Amino acid sequence: MNKCVLITGAAVNTGFGIAEKFAENNYTVFLTSRSGKEAKEAAEKISKKYNVFSKGYEMEGSLREENLVKVFNDIESSGYLLDCIVLNAANLGINQDFFSVSVEDFMDVININIGWNFLLSRLAAKQMIKKGGGSIVFINSNTAYRCIPNRISYSASKSGALGLMRALAFDLGKYNIRVNAVLPGMIKTDRWQNNTGNIQSAPSAYTPIGDIADFEDIANAAYYFGSNLSKNTTGAELTVDGGNTIQLYPIIPNEK
Ligand SMILES: NC(=O)c1ccc[n+]([C@@H]2O[C@H](COP(=O)([O-])OP(=O)(O)OC[C@H]3O[C@@H](n4cnc5c(N)ncnc54)[C@H](OP(=O)(O)O)[C@@H]3O)[C@@H](O)[C@H]2O)c1
Repeated sequence: MNKCVLITGAAVNTGFGIAEKFAENNYTVFLTSRSGKEAKEAAEKISKKYNVFSKGYEMEGSLREENLVKVFNDIESSGYLLDCIVLNAANLGINQDFFSVSVEDFMDVININIGWNFLLSRLAAKQMIKKGGGSIVFINSNTAYRCIPNRISYSASKSGALGLMRALAFDLGKYNIRVNAVLPGMIKTDRWQNNTGNIQSAPSAYTPIGDIADFEDIANAAYYFGSNLSKNTTGAELTVDGGNTIQLYPIIPNEK
């Protein structure tokens, strides 16, 4: 039987790229979106292109565990157990001004990026234990270490999620469950493609490598942690940001 992966927020962008990478390697691919329709369409595309079984689930972004359980129960009652979960979905917490953001909006980001992923990890780990082991992959961010304007809760949540990743790696090692994190810098998402002027051109040239990540770059890192390629690695971080965070000062394009 093929190995099985569940990827959150995988109808579009990086999550869909990760789903493609696992499908390319003959995994059965389960994926989620807050939109049942988009999840179904994405899974159909994966099945058709890679000739693997794929199913899309509507999963709400909330801490109501009973709603998350339904997805895991359906996977198990269909005869599958997860080998891997990729925690890709995130509340991006864009434009949160420190002085005006409500504590509710701040906590929404913390709740999804830490609390929701904690619940999902626990549900996935229960299946992995039945299977004799598995891998939990957090898609984190280089903003866990370096800050960008007006993203207070996002940075805080991504830093906290790294702590969660390490604690899970420590506690779940005895079950042969590995837990690791990919830390992307800027990725070429539709959001990035739709930006114009400086925002689109500058950051791509401000890395030592001179470019930002394609979905495939993040998917390759997620697959490395998710599969047996990294069978002796747990509690680790892999930064995929063109070297952005090693800089003291960015390389300004005209000064190269
Ligand atoms: N893009 C970048 O430059 C960048 C940089 C560093 C790190 N990252 C990380 O990479 C991962 C993927 O990023 P991306 O840019 O490809 O993301 P994205 O498509 O904007 O977001 C990923 C998915 O998360 C789901 N999502 C959004 N808000 C949510 C909420 N409140 N509750 C539950 N789900 C929610 C959405 O899925 P549905 O709408 O289908 O539910 C969305 O497609 C994220 O963890 C992000 O933090 C991205």
